[in-house]
Amino acid sequence: MIQSAREWLEKDRRYVWHAMSGYPSGASTLVIEQGDGAWITDIEGNRYLDGMSGLWCVNVGYGREELARAAYEQLVKMPFYPLTRGHLPAIELGEKLNEWLAGEYAFFYSNSGSEANEIAFKVARQFHQQNGEPERWKFVSRYRAYHGQTMGALAATGQAQRKYRYEPLAPGFLHVPPPDSYRRPDELDPEAYGRECARDIERLIQWELPETVAAVILEPIITGGGILIPPDNYLPAVKEICERYGVLLIVDEVICGFGRIGTRFGHQSYGIEPDIVTMAKGITSAYSPLSATAVSQRIYEAFAGSGEYERLRHVNTFGGHPASCAVAIRNMQIMEDEELPERSAELGERLLKDLSELGEHPQVGDVRGKGLLVGIELVSEKQSKRPASPQTVAAFVSGCQKRGLIVGKNGDTAAGYNNVVTLAPPLSLTEGDLEFIGETLKRSLEDLPESAEESE
Ligand SMILES: Cc1ncc(COP(=O)(O)O)c(C=O)c1O
Repeated sequence: MIQSAREWLEKDRRYVWHAMSGYPSGASTLVIEQGDGAWITDIEGNRYLDGMSGLWCVNVGYGREELARAAYEQLVKMPFYPLTRGHLPAIELGEKLNEWLAGEYAFFYSNSGSEANEIAFKVARQFHQQNGEPERWKFVSRYRAYHGQTMGALAATGQAQRKYRYEPLAPGFLHVPPPDSYRRPDELDPEAYGRECARDIERLIQWELPETVAAVILEPIITGGGILIPPDNYLPAVKEICERYGVLLIVDEVICGFGRIGTRFGHQSYGIEPDIVTMAKGITSAYSPLSATAVSQRIYEAFAGSGEYERLRHVNTFGGHPASCAVAIRNMQIMEDEELPERSAELGERLLKDLSELGEHPQVGDVRGKGLLVGIELVSEKQSKRPASPQTVAAFVSGCQKRGLIVGKNGDTAAGYNNVVTLAPPLSLTEGDLEFIGETLKRSLEDLPESAEESE
């Protein structure tokens, strides 16, 4: 039976509880039917350039038949076997991920970024216990960062608006301010600011007693919290502090990984080697659910004991699903063949240059990015950097959508600072797509009033 778009929308309202939503108002949503390259088409036939790659994840773009084929062939051959035992795609993928990480890592697979982080927390605590330091159970993360929605990952998240009404969460998660280069104090140059922000982590570790701290978790760049790009020396300084105090460094690569910021993994842009790396989203370009927690050989070996509680006592049914692993392997091959991390670096630089003129608009405080990850920070007053209202941000986002461009925003994160418009298009986008993004952003910005008062 062929259903009209209106019928689909009515059923959508009735049966599908959407993410970040309550009981549906009359407002309509997009129901997407098809994708091709960087473009998606809704059930009414409208086409949009997906400037957010779905949810920062369709890195190789839509319509890649070979990824569908990889899943199909694996499902026909061997659809499922749990990783309490083994299967070939899991092994092959581990070898490839290790090569991309350019280190010595072992991989625990699961289904989502949140789970990958939960496993990192469990591994870190148990590692310290088995290493003779059982009091190390606290985790340090940054305000404005997002690490997932399960009770531990949400506790690590530094976005009060995502936690409100769900607390109390897991205990033992502490937060420090993130580097916010746009609001860097005038008296500090970027390097001094990078050192000072890393010192915030060191001070917290000292105040809490270093022997109680298990790990620091951070994204190379805070993404969903507002595209906060740290000074270049920040990550190396944090790594050095972690080493000095015997604290593990967990790098959350759920968004920054798989070419997003111009290198295979985001931390490689900053020249550090994490103890644990968590990844999801771009690992399969979202063609199938999969995540992984990479642990260094040193940590893996701490689980070699034969005692009853010395194993990792964690299992999930679908983690490392053979079809998802097969898709991930093929997806990484596409990224290598088409040099997508390099392409991300190159096109990202061009896009940023093209967008620099946006900064002349009185309500644009900052335009920043690395690779194909861009943030446009809207302000109601440039001098004081007072954040723009949610209404202004929403008007800009919907202006883009009306012109056929999907952009994101850091909504419902830190109260008063939900003022950053985000872009993370497929890394495979064409030069024409890139121009379309630049033009559409400029024209949508022209529609915004010149002053905050007019837009509120
Ligand atoms: C940095 C980061 N970590 C973790 C997660 C959680 O991933 P998932 O939604 O797959 O649970 C996300 C999701 O957006 C993320 O952006």
